[in-house]
Amino acid sequence: MKRIGSILLLITLILGTALVVAVANTEKGAEEMTMVGGEKGDVWFPHRKHQDNLGDCKTCHDLFPQEAGTIQKMKAEGELKKKQVMNKKCLACHRKMKKAGEPTGPTSCNKCHNKK
Ligand code: HEC
Ligand code: HEC
Ligand code: HEC
Repeated sequence: MKRIGSILLLITLILGTALVVAVANTEKGAEEMTMVGGEKGDVWFPHRKHQDNLGDCKTCHDLFPQEAGTIQKMKAEGELKKKQVMNKKCLACHRKMKKAGEPTGPTSCNKCHNKK
């Protein structure tokens, strides 16, 4: 009986882990998104491309959680300064990689911002 008990426990653990992995995979968020860019206009952001390129979610999500609309909310509540994500994340990384001669994203205002 004891042995069957531990086998059942093992099966439960394996199934549980598989479920957690499956759920984690669906929570990668939108493949691409349009970010609010104030008076300069909206910003297109290919989320999945960055996830695939950078690997580590914390590269960006150490500054804001994995939640839709969180940047706007945090800016409104004063938890993020205006342009903080842009300067500390997007631009900082693109500039650094450009300097290093590596393929990267835009560094000029109107390549990111689309004034309509
Ligand atoms: C280059 C920066 C960057 C990286 C790296 C990144 N994200 Fe995001 N993520 C964002 C931005 C920007 C938002 C939008 C936040 C908002 O709407 O205010 C976001 C939003 C999300 C959301 C919620 C919105 C949605 O689309 O459902 C989830 C979930 C998410 N990210 C998961 C992840 C996971 C998982 C990883 C790692 C595999 C990751 N992100 C890596 C920048 C990034
Ligand atoms: C790599 C893409 C990128 C580039 C290049 C870029 N921006 Fe942004 N910008 C963003 C993103 C994303 C946001 C929204 C997040 C934030 O406020 O940090 C933003 C937000 C802004 C805002 C709105 C801030 C607010 O809350 O009202 C202004 C104004 C702005 N950018 C001006 C500029 C100017 C001027 C330049 C050129 C010097 C520039 N941006 C270059 C991505 C970019
Ligand atoms: C840690 C580094 C890093 C951060 C942070 C980052 N990027 Fe990028 N970005 C890249 C790299 C690398 C590429 C080149 C991807 C490719 O073409 O394969 C790229 C490409 C892009 C492109 C061009 C994609 C295309 O297909 O033309 C856009 C637009 C862009 N990034 C916007 C943003 C915005 C907006 C943010 C901030 C919310 C951001 N990036 C944050 C590294 C970064």
